[in-house]
Amino acid sequence: MAKAITTFNCNKCGTVHKKWAGRCDGCGEWNTIVEEAPLSTGPSKKSLGGMRGKKIPLADLSGQEAPPARTSAKMPELDRVLGGGLVEASAILVGGDPGIGKSTLLLQAAASFARVGLKVIYVSGEEAKAQIRMRAQRLNLADAPVQLATETNLRDVLTTLEAEKPDLVIIDSVQTMWADNVESAPGSVSQVRAVSHELTTFAKRNGTSVILVGHVTKDGQIAGPRVVEHMVDTVLYFEGERGHQFRILRAVKNRFGPADEIGVFEMTGTGLAEVTNPSALFLSERDEPAAGSVVFAGIEGTRPLLVELQALVAPSSTAQPRRSVIGWDAGRLSMILAVLEARCGISFAGLDVYLNVAGGLRITEPAADLAVASALLSAREDIALPADTVVFGELSLSGALRAVGQMENRLKEAEKLGFRTAIVPTRSKLSGPPEINLRQMRDLIGFVGEVFGAE
Ligand code: TYD
Ligand code: MG
Repeated sequence: MAKAITTFNCNKCGTVHKKWAGRCDGCGEWNTIVEEAPLSTGPSKKSLGGMRGKKIPLADLSGQEAPPARTSAKMPELDRVLGGGLVEASAILVGGDPGIGKSTLLLQAAASFARVGLKVIYVSGEEAKAQIRMRAQRLNLADAPVQLATETNLRDVLTTLEAEKPDLVIIDSVQTMWADNVESAPGSVSQVRAVSHELTTFAKRNGTSVILVGHVTKDGQIAGPRVVEHMVDTVLYFEGERGHQFRILRAVKNRFGPADEIGVFEMTGTGLAEVTNPSALFLSERDEPAAGSVVFAGIEGTRPLLVELQALVAPSSTAQPRRSVIGWDAGRLSMILAVLEARCGISFAGLDVYLNVAGGLRITEPAADLAVASALLSAREDIALPADTVVFGELSLSGALRAVGQMENRLKEAEKLGFRTAIVPTRSKLSGPPEINLRQMRDLIGFVGEVFGAE
């Protein structure tokens, strides 16, 4: 019989090495490689080709399936991100930085689901019962019928779940759980993989929904291999700036609903409050019209969202001017600076550029291009746009402006919040609310000339 071979796996990217090394070849990270015992592959080690398996029944595509059973948490922001409520027997991974509020969110979710009649078990491997009870009191949830366990041994957790048959179990966190058939430390790749596999299998077999909490490494990936993300049905990230009270729950994968949907929360002294009108909140911090500040009419998931972009342009004291971005893609910023220079002759050489999305939100839409360009120009020329103006549109490398999706919805949201002018790409038959003065632009040169009065 072949000898079982120990492997050395990178904790960060999951690359398997034959021997230990200080630096991983896969991701280049230092000190991430740990020794791990091989996974057991069952009693027979013969190749599969030599053995007969059983024949699998095949089906055609036309069969009628009922839509999956869903339960609403009566927390609209959470329900929307889940695609309309919690799907029975689904496995969900919730990732986020330590301290961002995952345990708070999930204790609130556990209480909500328990109050609408689900049997909910909350397993914590991180905190003592007293701590969780204190949090429950602070959140005013102490009377919710949630069953609590503090345990890290997966075997005991599974035995308990098998006996209790809950509708929903929350595991906080997957990095603290420990499967005793895998010989490596909790939080290692094989442990995280084994724990996630056991729990998702349990979910499918017993009709229990499982929510796994996963910590995120400093560069924003869920610790442990990507393989966990493939195992589960839904991956949600809980994000936000530490100093800000806003928290965004973002679906990055959802087998049961649209990905890219977001839910907006505000961290208060008594837990997370849902923000049902995020545009008003994101704009409420806005001061008087200032150079460099522009309101972008965006779409997050299925919902329009207005946010303020802020740019600062200042003479640089170094040979290599700074390009600093918070809440947007740095590569996309460089592209816009290059288009401004190449197509309009407006150079940012020798100038430091800072770009910030207000409120700690992160925007991924190319539709923000024109708003970013406006903020940069407004900061550089020291000309403020009128306070009642919103901007959106995608910029191509040629300097042309492209129409973007859901233009009417963006305009409607702007109108609702009191905006009266919209600077947008030209599109035939575009009709906004009558209150809005539409300024349609064909390209960046025309835009610069009209809005900033330059050639
Ligand atoms: P927590 O849910 O423990 O974060 P995680 O599980 O992601 O590590 O939340 C931690 C932070 O939230 C902590 O710094 C305190 C803050 N917080 C509030 O501001 N209000 C509250 O009601 C609660 C429970 C926590
Ligand atoms: Mg926690």
